[in-house]
Amino acid sequence: MSPQCYLPAEQHHVQPAWYPPEIDKAQWDLWFADGNAPSVLDIGCGRGGFMLQYAIRRPEHNVLGLEVRETLVNWINRVVSGEHIPNARALWYSVANGLSWIPDSCIETAVYLFADPWPKKRHQKRRAFSSPLLDELDRVMKVDGILYLASDRADVQEHQRDVIAEHGVFRFEEVSRDLWPFDFPTDQQSFCDRKGIPYGLYRAFR
Ligand SMILES: C[S@@+](CC[C@H](N)C(=O)[O-])C[C@H]1O[C@@H](n2cnc3c(N)ncnc32)[C@H](O)[C@@H]1O
Repeated sequence: MSPQCYLPAEQHHVQPAWYPPEIDKAQWDLWFADGNAPSVLDIGCGRGGFMLQYAIRRPEHNVLGLEVRETLVNWINRVVSGEHIPNARALWYSVANGLSWIPDSCIETAVYLFADPWPKKRHQKRRAFSSPLLDELDRVMKVDGILYLASDRADVQEHQRDVIAEHGVFRFEEVSRDLWPFDFPTDQQSFCDRKGIPYGLYRAFR
């Protein structure tokens, strides 16, 4: 997959076929059995272990995963169809292109878990976690909605904390493992647990 995939669409003169399509208008009736917008948003959902568990355990929530890698999205949506999970859907989409197609104040829980590492300085422009993304999250999240974050990289944690502080709308807070509200791990979290790799858990709220 080309690293250019991570850049916003406007930075491509001609949009290549491998670039995740932009979304003008949501098709909730196509994406969720009840036709409603999601209340849970998993940004960078990867292989989807977390979003699928969430949807199965909390069928009253529509869970939307966004992922830039098409093969993973196809895999997740095959599981969704095969296992009849009516409240889960993954979209092949780069969050670098914003969330304008998601309605205001519908998201109760947004997660940004182990997404966006880009350790090399010259690659950091590919990080989607930015002030414009926080503007979008501020709009789509309910007033008491919470954004959960996790990372196994100190520089990413610092970057996210700084972006949140500069943006000024959300408060950033570390969450201890016993207060982490999800008892099902993400795929990356399981990997870290297996390998003994430490990671931090955080939340941002207004
Ligand atoms: C390290 S994986 C973590 C996946 C999952 N959240 C987990 O914890 O297992 C990060 C994921 O974020 C995705 N990602 C990175 N940039 C993205 C973007 N701009 N839009 C959507 N997904 C993105 C990557 O393709 C990758 O699957």
